[in-house]
Amino acid sequence: MKRMLAVLLCLVMVISLAGCSNGGSSSGGKKEKVDVGIVLPTKDEPRWLQDKAKFESVIKDSKYSVEVLFSQGSSANEKTNVETLINKGIKVLIICAQDAAAAAASVEEAKAAGVTVIAYDRLITGTDAVDYYVTFDSLAVGAAMGQYLADNATGQGNPLYLYAGAATDNNAFLFFQGAWNVLQPKIADGTFVIKNSSEATGLQATKELSHEQLASIIGQVTTNWDFNEAKSKAEAHLTAVSAADKGKCYVLAPNDGTARSIADVFGADADVSQYFITGQDSEKASVQYVIDGKQSMTVFKDTRTLATDAMNMAISVIEEKTPDTGSTYDNGKKQVPAKQTPIVVVTKDNVKEALIDSGYYKASDFTGLK
Ligand code: BGC
Repeated sequence: MKRMLAVLLCLVMVISLAGCSNGGSSSGGKKEKVDVGIVLPTKDEPRWLQDKAKFESVIKDSKYSVEVLFSQGSSANEKTNVETLINKGIKVLIICAQDAAAAAASVEEAKAAGVTVIAYDRLITGTDAVDYYVTFDSLAVGAAMGQYLADNATGQGNPLYLYAGAATDNNAFLFFQGAWNVLQPKIADGTFVIKNSSEATGLQATKELSHEQLASIIGQVTTNWDFNEAKSKAEAHLTAVSAADKGKCYVLAPNDGTARSIADVFGADADVSQYFITGQDSEKASVQYVIDGKQSMTVFKDTRTLATDAMNMAISVIEEKTPDTGSTYDNGKKQVPAKQTPIVVVTKDNVKEALIDSGYYKASDFTGLK
């Protein structure tokens, strides 16, 4: 009888652990005690699966345990994930917020439980409960996109279509601002003409956009980081304009997933003779698009470096050492000490060098690679 009860108890424990994992995983069967909790936005975008894989490979050889949970596009899931990890005794929380402002409550809860909070890739705003921020240079990402379009435009009146990320993501502002800094002078001098945003057209003489002005443009041309929303917006935009507004088009797409959706729409329009389109993340599918000439560029953000930086920071915290930071980001409540990683622009010309020779991907992952 006692034996049966023990078996039953074990079974209940196993089921409850599996139930709260929310699609996540932990390293090496060390489930009961978790040192570092990691919360990522969604496993439906390859970008975040890349990060998860890197986290797990970095921690594999250390004496610490991690658990990765996905929020699947929901701030409510994110909060539950944070609470689950707090209950597992984490010392450090690495979190890529679903919504910059909504995540404040979750990290405040973690902080109150004595957990050190590292914002990962996306800054959490309006709270002093963020201890550190590990990020790519997001303004540089946007600037690289803008520069690519500018470098490939000659003459006057080139049609420009603008798209942005989710307004709940602080990065969407940084990307757009970085791109605008480069594009605005080229709009002002007539190289480009904006075709899909009355808000952006209304602000085309303004180089330094305020947060509110950025929000008004982003609100109009947001993809919400959603492939389907990107596709339907692009379709609506191309339907709304005349053939004269198409021809050789320049498209600011905020990331790879949305770039592929938008590129497919521009590629299918008989009045579009050629298009240049940006992206970021160097997702495998987009690298293939770049090789095939369907996406013009992608910004490579080496998730190996970001995940390693975040894990090293977490380990420093656990071992009571001072983490290595070099800059700060203002989150509206404090200057958050930050570690920033540079980015690399990838086009057809350097795809092999940047992504294969660096060991990020295997040549056999792609076709037509030269
Ligand atoms: C990240 C991008 C990603 C996007 C959508 C941003 O915060 O920096 O790399 O493509 O979110 O998930």
